[in-house]
Amino acid sequence: MKKIILPLLLVAVLSGCGGSGKKSAGDKKETATDDNSENPVYQKGLGLVAKNDCLTCHKVDEKLTGPPYREVADKYGNMPDTIVAHLASKIIQGGNGVWGDVFMLPHPGISKEDAEAMVRYILLLKK
Ligand code: HEC
Repeated sequence: MKKIILPLLLVAVLSGCGGSGKKSAGDKKETATDDNSENPVYQKGLGLVAKNDCLTCHKVDEKLTGPPYREVADKYGNMPDTIVAHLASKIIQGGNGVWGDVFMLPHPGISKEDAEAMVRYILLLKK
């Protein structure tokens, strides 16, 4: 009898622990460059992103339908105006092919200024 119960118990214990091992690695304590909470550029873009439909397809660190914003920021780096303008018009016109075959919906109702403000927020997420 004991021979059966022991393995069963082991299985129960092991499966009970599954999936809890991952802890976010974002615990670094860098002040100035990392803390955007007082940065008006960041705040404005964040507000616009939250107000529009962006977050249905994008998260900061997780891939949804679209690429994580942090990866977009890492790809494009600091924000030369040409990049900001390019990404802003992509948000307005939609498109695909850079991150995969999935299409980003066009956003014809968003102004160029707002789109650029959102891009500046996204690019500030660069690590
Ligand atoms: C329907 C889903 C969807 C929505 C809604 C959406 N996106 Fe995207 N987004 C995508 C996909 C898919 C891509 C990748 C396109 C590609 O591979 O070229 C993308 C790419 C991007 C990129 C990178 C573009 C490039 O060329 O590298 C930016 C910046 C971006 N989105 C910002 C936004 C913003 C800001 C909003 C809100 C106004 C938004 N997205 C809403 C799906 C979406």
